[in-house]
Amino acid sequence: MTHRRQPTRNRSGWTSNVLNELSELFVAFAAQTQRPVLDIGAAYGVATLPALAAGATVYANDADPSHLATLAAATPTPHLPRLHLLPGRFPHDLHLPPASLDAVHASNVLHFLPGDELARGLALARHWLAPGGRLFIQAATPYQQPFQAFVPTFEARLAAGHPWPGWVPAVRAISQHKKLGQIPPALHLLDEQTLSRLVLAHGFTIERCWTYRRRDLPRSMHLDGREGVGLVATSL
Ligand SMILES: C[S@@+](CC[C@H](N)C(=O)[O-])C[C@H]1O[C@@H](n2cnc3c(N)ncnc32)[C@H](O)[C@@H]1O
Repeated sequence: MTHRRQPTRNRSGWTSNVLNELSELFVAFAAQTQRPVLDIGAAYGVATLPALAAGATVYANDADPSHLATLAAATPTPHLPRLHLLPGRFPHDLHLPPASLDAVHASNVLHFLPGDELARGLALARHWLAPGGRLFIQAATPYQQPFQAFVPTFEARLAAGHPWPGWVPAVRAISQHKKLGQIPPALHLLDEQTLSRLVLAHGFTIERCWTYRRRDLPRSMHLDGREGVGLVATSL
């Protein structure tokens, strides 16, 4: 399938019409689940729709209710009883029972959260997952062409043990990229070390954490093959 970027309606970046490598792992896992799975920042359903097709019951969350309306309209009628829409901002607007989920998926959304919300969100994900449940995260790293001026600052902060080395409160101060108007003013660029430390601190075991260039990343963002960070972890 031809990769096609689709802008979000609330200037939260772009989504895609093809599954990235991390979301593909989520969909394969979702196919075996009994309990519902949660897709945080689901947008128009790039991961939710295949997870539904694989037989999962999906709670689709998004900060923009109109994205979820588009997702619902694109859902085949036989799958609709297994689709539950949860509009609102993660983490504060989401309320789910403890140990009620088999998987939590967050692709290209956690890099919009400041450190305290990220930590709160991981604590909640752990609380909502049943023992043995899986967490799937894909996020942007600083190793993307538009953010390369920030890499020395990021690496110095990382070496100094800064808790949130990739927090950029004003993206315009580090990048002149012509499409910055399509992303929020602040970004939280993540990396293997910061993400792993955070996930371990919240009671998960890490199955895999790696940097890579996801297949749907536009050429203008390419830098050195470490443009994205993926993580798969298990709730104990
Ligand atoms: C860049 S898109 C990613 C969509 C999809 N998960 C993907 O991988 O292509 C980010 C989506 O997350 C949503 N979003 C941003 N911040 C959010 C938050 N705090 N809670 C829930 N959704 C959020 C946006 O509305 C948007 O639909």
